Order: sequence, then C-alpha cells, then structure tokens
Amino acid sequence: MKCDDLMKLLAQTVSVRNKVVLIMIILFAEILSMSTTAEAKSKPNELVIRADKGKDTINRNIYGHFSEHLGRCIYGGFWVGEDSPIPNTRGIRNDVVQALRRIKMPVLRWPGGCFADEYHWKDGIGPREKRPGMVNTHWGKVTENNHFGTHEFLDLCEQLGCEPYICGNVGSGTILEMQEWVEYITFDGKSPMADLRRKNGRDKPWKVKYWGVGNENWGCGGRMRPEYYADLYRRYSTYLRNFSGNRLYKIACGPSGANYHWMEVLMREAGRHMNGITPHYYCGSGKKSRSATRFTEEDWFEQLKRALYMEELVSRHSAIMDKYDPEKRVGMLVDEWGTWHQVEPGTNPGFLYQQNSLRDALVAGITLNIFNNHCDRVRMANIAQTINVLQAMILTKDEKMILTPTYHVFDMYKVHHDATLLPVELECGDYQFGEEKIPTLSVSASRDKTGNIHISLCNLDPKKSAELICKLPGARGQKASGRVLTADAMTAHNTFDNPETISAKAFRDFKLKGDTLKLTLPSKSVVVLEIK
Ligand code: AHR
Repeated sequence: MKCDDLMKLLAQTVSVRNKVVLIMIILFAEILSMSTTAEAKSKPNELVIRADKGKDTINRNIYGHFSEHLGRCIYGGFWVGEDSPIPNTRGIRNDVVQALRRIKMPVLRWPGGCFADEYHWKDGIGPREKRPGMVNTHWGKVTENNHFGTHEFLDLCEQLGCEPYICGNVGSGTILEMQEWVEYITFDGKSPMADLRRKNGRDKPWKVKYWGVGNENWGCGGRMRPEYYADLYRRYSTYLRNFSGNRLYKIACGPSGANYHWMEVLMREAGRHMNGITPHYYCGSGKKSRSATRFTEEDWFEQLKRALYMEELVSRHSAIMDKYDPEKRVGMLVDEWGTWHQVEPGTNPGFLYQQNSLRDALVAGITLNIFNNHCDRVRMANIAQTINVLQAMILTKDEKMILTPTYHVFDMYKVHHDATLLPVELECGDYQFGEEKIPTLSVSASRDKTGNIHISLCNLDPKKSAELICKLPGARGQKASGRVLTADAMTAHNTFDNPETISAKAFRDFKLKGDTLKLTLPSKSVVVLEIK
C-alpha cells in the first residue's frame, strides 16, 4: 500500500486510536522511503578486484602502433632524411624516437593500411636517388619518392626497440613478390634476394615475426568476398617461408566492424592456416560536430558510446573464433582502431591530420581497458596512427613536436604490458545524456611481475566526479600512488604554442586501508593507480 492510499484510509477512519496507529505507520513509511531514495542517490560505485586471482597475460602488443605512408606520418613524422637540420639518426627523427621509447612501443605495423596493397617493396630499396616514385592514389594523390623503404623501416624498429609488423600486398601484388620480400629480409644463406640485400648494405638478415597477408581486402585491398579472400589467403600464406630461424606469425585480413560473416568464413575456411586475424574498427567522431576540438557534450557522449561498442565487437568476434578455435590458438589483432575526426582546417583532406583532445584520451583509456579485459583472445592492437594521422600519439610541425592526450594514456597504461590480468567486478552508475545512458566508469586491472597491482579507471561523465569503493581481496600492498589525466574543458588539447595544456599529474584523491581503497575520480578523467 502506498502513502497516498494510507492517507485516504486515514481520512475515512473515525476511531482516534486507529487514526494514531495509521499516522505512525504513515510516518514510518515516509522515513523509510526517504532513506532508501537517499541511499539510491548516494550509492557509491563499487569495484572488486580479485588480486588473489588472474591467469591471462596482457600481451604488450595490445599497446601496438600503426604507421602508413599517409599524409605526414612517415615523411615529416618519422622520416626527415639524413640532410635535415632536424636532429636525426640515419634520417629518422631523434625526438620522435625518444618519445616513443618512453611509452615502450612494443610493435609497429607498416607500410599500410590501404597503401600496403599498392606498395611494391622493390621500389623502396637501393640508393635513394635511384628509387622510382609512385602516386599515392589513396592518400592525397601525392608523389611518393620511396625514400623510406624496407631498410629504413627496420632501422626505425631497431631504434625504437620494437617488433616490426609488415603488411604485404595482396590487392595488386603477386605471390612471388611477397615470397621474395620475406627471403630478402630474413634469409641468411646465399640466394638472389639475400645477395640483393647485402648489395644494399645489410649483411645480416633481420628477424620479422609479424606478417600480414593484405589489408582490408573487403575494401581498399581488392573489394573481395570473404570466400575469395580466404582462398587467396591460403595460397599466399603457403609461400611465406620460415628462413634462418625466423618464424613467421601469419596474419589474415579480418572484418570491418560488425561484419561477423567475414569472421565466420575466414575462421571456417582458413583458421587453421593463420596465427592471427585483424578486425578493424574506427569509432568516428561526435554526433553533430566532427571537429576534433570544437564539440558539445552531445558529441562527447556519442563519441564515448561508439568507443564502448568495441566491447560488443570483440565479444561477438571472439565467440565466432571460439567456435572454430576453442583452444584460442589464433590471436585477434585489432590492428586499426581509434577516432576519426574532420581534418584540421586548411589541411589536405587526404592527409587525415586531426587534433587530439581529452575526449580522445578517454576513447583510448576505454578501448585499452576493453582489450586488457579480453586479453585471452586479443593479442595485439594497433592504434591508427602514430604521428600526424588520425588518433596520433605525436604531432609535428617542422622541428617542433607535441605529445597528445592519447600519448599520455599510453604512457600511463604501459604498466599493464605483459602483466597478469586481474578479474574485476564493477557496479557503477550511469552517465545519462538526454534519453540515453552509458556506464559512468570503465576499468581494468593487472598484477605485474614484481607483484604490484595497477588499476586503470576512466570517468566518462564530463560534469560529475565519481566516488568509488574498491575492494582488493588478496592484495598485500601497503602503499598506493596514482596519476591522473584530466582538464577543465572537454575539448582541452595541446598545441604547438601551448604543448603542456594537458598532461598526466600526480593523483592523490584516494585512501588505502587494508584491502579497501576509496577514491574520488574527477569528472572526465583517466586515472592509473599503483598498489605496492
Ligand atoms: O588508417 C587509415 C586507413 O583506414 C587505412 O589505410 C585503412 O586500412 C583504413 O580504412
């Protein structure tokens, strides 16, 4: 019975004694309802991190990167040439290498992207002045001089201390071309390709593990049907040989977004011949504005909602993979992901040069949490792209370089590399905008080899801070510390004039007592905590 009904009953009751009893019941019901409403309003977000559990490793390659011959990613980004006044080592920018070493970049994918299926590697070897040019038809129809080729890329990976990941040409290349590329790079003995490599100045072969057989072959890589590509994949991959102790990890082109049919056909027809498969998903931009830095809360909400969709994609693609590969031998490698805004005003639309704000940092934090939590299947991911293109880590302008908010997230999250994922149970409120809502918080946690626990948290709400009570059964840590990335404005970003507007700061709004951590996450923030 509701209070209103009790009031009606009270009006009808004649006996004074019954009236008193009814008044007491009404008062009691009111007090009860007030206290439950207050409880619902202030119910804190709760998180349990099973520090006593955990079996899967977060492959450091989830923190991988992607660099394409697109706009100013390679030229002006990584490569300035040996004669440049910009400090470089054999043509590669020193400032960029230093910055990327700091975030421990584990793997770098190259040369594309759509460019990969137009790239003919033999044009990019030998004396640079003799290399033929080509038109980069996908990206701005500019002339590519091929000054950055196989030797330069592998030198870059050595300077960065990361694994190279090469994507071969299926769309417009041949099997022989791809087969010879592997021989050129990895064969130690005497052979036409190994001799050519030596003639070009490199005696010892390189090791290259990750090898992609085409890119987006459902689209720019040849507009193929999955049945046709699956057969081509089987054919091309047959001739990718292991030479001189180098073992290739063969990677098939995966689906675009929610194309579950592509995943089904590829796993069914070619699953046993591959080591990895590569879904791609870009989470676009805002709802009304596609600008990277001029947007409203409606755009913020939409962008984060689209980023959260990665959870569904990974779960559903994993379920299909589980059907054909229950042992989880084949890795899911999300080798292109990130935001895709309008290009910066006045720049070449074919160069995909965009700014990067706090909103991009939230997208990175949310997405990396999703990958961490699915590390039983997701073994690599490559954000698109490293420099000056899409959701970049670094922006350059001649000799200047700035680090983006996304860079800072990769820096903060590097503590998860090769750590053991800890199971989490999160009960959190919703961030509501208009008629729609999404969870306020995103989280993942891991234990590193020294036993330290790291928790990465995002507060998606741009207006409200979030209280969180975190239980850590099994944690032995005594001391906690943290870093936070946030700003006053949703649109905050770094510029060449103000390069430090947004960067990670010490986070102190927490209390650790026994196995309970209480914290307040600022609105629109990414926080990483360490418990020692
Ligand atoms: O990253 C930009 C482009 O997006 C890549 O070249 C292509 O693979 C994808 O469509």
